[in-house]
Amino acid sequence: VIKKVHAREILDSRGNPTIEVEVFLDDGSIGRAAVPSGASTGSREALELRDKDPKRFKGRGVRKAIANVMEIIGPELIGLSVFDQEFIDRKLIILDGTPDKSGLGANALLGVSMAVARAAAVSLDLPLFRYLGGVTAGELPVPMMNVINGGRHADNNIDIQEFMIVPAGASSFSEAVRMAAEVFHTLKEVLQEKNYSTSVGDEGGFAPNLVSSKEAIETILHAASRAGYVPGKDIFLALDPAASEFYSDGIYHFEGEDMTASQMVEYYADLVQKYPIVSIEDGLAEDDWDGWSILTEKLGERVQLVGDDIFVTNPAILQRGIDKGVANSVLIKLNQIGTITETLATMRLARKAGYTTVLSHRSGETEDTFIADFAVGTQVGQIKSGSLSRSERVAKYNQLMRIEETLKEAVYPGVEMYRKYIR
Ligand code: PGA
Ligand code: ZN
Repeated sequence: VIKKVHAREILDSRGNPTIEVEVFLDDGSIGRAAVPSGASTGSREALELRDKDPKRFKGRGVRKAIANVMEIIGPELIGLSVFDQEFIDRKLIILDGTPDKSGLGANALLGVSMAVARAAAVSLDLPLFRYLGGVTAGELPVPMMNVINGGRHADNNIDIQEFMIVPAGASSFSEAVRMAAEVFHTLKEVLQEKNYSTSVGDEGGFAPNLVSSKEAIETILHAASRAGYVPGKDIFLALDPAASEFYSDGIYHFEGEDMTASQMVEYYADLVQKYPIVSIEDGLAEDDWDGWSILTEKLGERVQLVGDDIFVTNPAILQRGIDKGVANSVLIKLNQIGTITETLATMRLARKAGYTTVLSHRSGETEDTFIADFAVGTQVGQIKSGSLSRSERVAKYNQLMRIEETLKEAVYPGVEMYRKYIR
């Protein structure tokens, strides 16, 4: 049973404060978890509580969320069984009392929810993925690795936020990591030859001042080939334009042009035609549901269309998307909704409707590798955790390689994941 709950302020990968929670059990077990933080957040995400005290961390302190854990949530959890995750998460939701988690803060809730799961796994002496997934958990996710950063994650001119390589042609997760790392280093050489910057953005990808998104794609494919891989067989591409960020007044302000939703769809159709792209996330803006319908109708059979800002891991909003036939995949970010139980509900709903799921880090991360275990435990299928540099990104891939090593019969779905979309 839970004996004590503690919270503290630590730093995330951007040097911003975030909350870390520890749950102590009567048997001596301790579970610890840290909460990540986004930059290109969806407007309907659960609220991340910040102090707004300009004298500390430019207003970004999380002491209020910490006080909510220590003074309000903690005392209510003492004496409860740590194994009843659902009961505890429901209790967190009731204590918060608001639809958007603005009562106590989604960061406060999620820190507790994750630390509870960790403490339970420690108490049973099980790896976290095993505790979450049971004896059958054994499938590694296909990684989408963000090797060129643009949009809000970098100070360059590219409007697409993430250009990801997908090493689906690998035979195992660790082979996928090796292939991607080789492409990453070859990409650095290619950028250097063109006299482009090779400094990295928030998610560890390069952030050069390329002239267009097409140049970014072609540069990556060139690097993949030079590294000895065949684009469209070994290595595929995934994009996250994060289009809400360049959408205003019904218009997409994209790479110097004003485009309608239909024009953006034509642009993506052209990209999918020319390049081995298997997935496009947030191709259109979170409020442009009509545009999303057009996008899904035109491209839904040819490419995975992932909803991030539009669904914000919220089961009610995802249900609306399913009813309207919008997208065919959902991005899963625990801190968009605030508890493990609600996250699992969104994933179940997606599966029932035939939508794929992609688990995601945030652009502000910590060294916590919770999502690596969560990916295997829930058999999520795909994960994006940034590039092949910056330890807060690589930590998740490293943990997945450790998990793969411990499994007797690890499964790596690879190209099967994108069978429908590969021509
Ligand atoms: P964020 O970006 O963590 O800054 O919101 C990630 C994404 O858009 O997928
Ligand atoms: Zn996104």
